[in-house]
Amino acid sequence: MTGIPDIELSSGCRIPVLGMGTASGPIAPPEVVASVVIDAIKLGYRHLDTASFYQSEGPVGRAISEAVRRGLITSRSELHVTSKLWCTDAHHDLVLPALHKTLKTLGLGYLDLYLIHMPGRLKHGEITFACKQEDLLPFDIRTTWEAMEKCQRLGLVKFICVSNFSSKKLSELLSHGTISPAVNQVEMRPYWQQKELRDFCAKNGIHVSAYSPLGGKGTISLRWAFEQGVSFVPKSFNKGRMKENMEICRRSVASHKERYSQVSMWFHLMGNTKPWLNYGTEIIS
Ligand SMILES: NC(=O)c1ccc[n+]([C@@H]2O[C@H](COP(=O)([O-])OP(=O)(O)OC[C@H]3O[C@@H](n4cnc5c(N)ncnc54)[C@H](OP(=O)(O)O)[C@@H]3O)[C@@H](O)[C@H]2O)c1
Repeated sequence: MTGIPDIELSSGCRIPVLGMGTASGPIAPPEVVASVVIDAIKLGYRHLDTASFYQSEGPVGRAISEAVRRGLITSRSELHVTSKLWCTDAHHDLVLPALHKTLKTLGLGYLDLYLIHMPGRLKHGEITFACKQEDLLPFDIRTTWEAMEKCQRLGLVKFICVSNFSSKKLSELLSHGTISPAVNQVEMRPYWQQKELRDFCAKNGIHVSAYSPLGGKGTISLRWAFEQGVSFVPKSFNKGRMKENMEICRRSVASHKERYSQVSMWFHLMGNTKPWLNYGTEIIS
């Protein structure tokens, strides 16, 4: 028992509602990331969110094998591992090789969830934070998703998913695809509630997972996300805060009531303001 409840997706798969985000800026040294992931597993985290873009796949993979070696978990299957396809690999012929590279870097035989990181395509090449205008290419949802479907059929990923997809992009994908995305991971927090997108996803059996869920408001934002029925992947590389973030699943609503009632009206009133980090889904429509 880890104290973190699971949530059931319409695909039938269950994922822990709270995951551990592993993106850091500036990028943390690999030994730091590996060490905090081991701490997280020790505390009870069983859902790890990584991506080729974050350069955290290597340290996450080392932490997983170390956790098995130390007996913190009996096998990798106790974990739920998510990774993502970056835009430089969002080309029909490059999706499978990118997944193989991700699996090799993680040292894993399969991923639980594999997400198209952004509905965008860049010229194939090195993954860097800054992208040049001339590297931007038209994104072809149909052929990219076809290649993602192949990854799932080959058993290399349990479920294929997307991230930063608007309802418009999801509609386009659903009209072409034979497998529906299990999850849409989007920026979401009390001040950026994604109500319309969440309604659209609910109607289409797509689970919403919230990234950057804290928004500078600490655990109260996580409790809000918990009560919306979404999963969420806060990042903390601080053991105390990792623990605090887990607590929100344990405490009853009543113990949050006082603080919650003070802020809930503000959450309601400000739910449709702009996302703070400015890489929100609505921007990429
Ligand atoms: N799909 C996408 O496009 C996408 C985009 C962005 C992020 N993500 C995923 O989402 C994860 C989280 O996103 P994020 O890092 O942007 O935002 P976040 O999790 O909302 O915020 C992280 C920040 O909050 C601090 N923090 C953590 N717990 C706290 C607490 N209880 N009280 C106060 N501060 C706390 C962290 O510092 P300490 O580390 O010092 O605790 C860090 O500075 C990423 O790691 C990544 O896995 C996905």
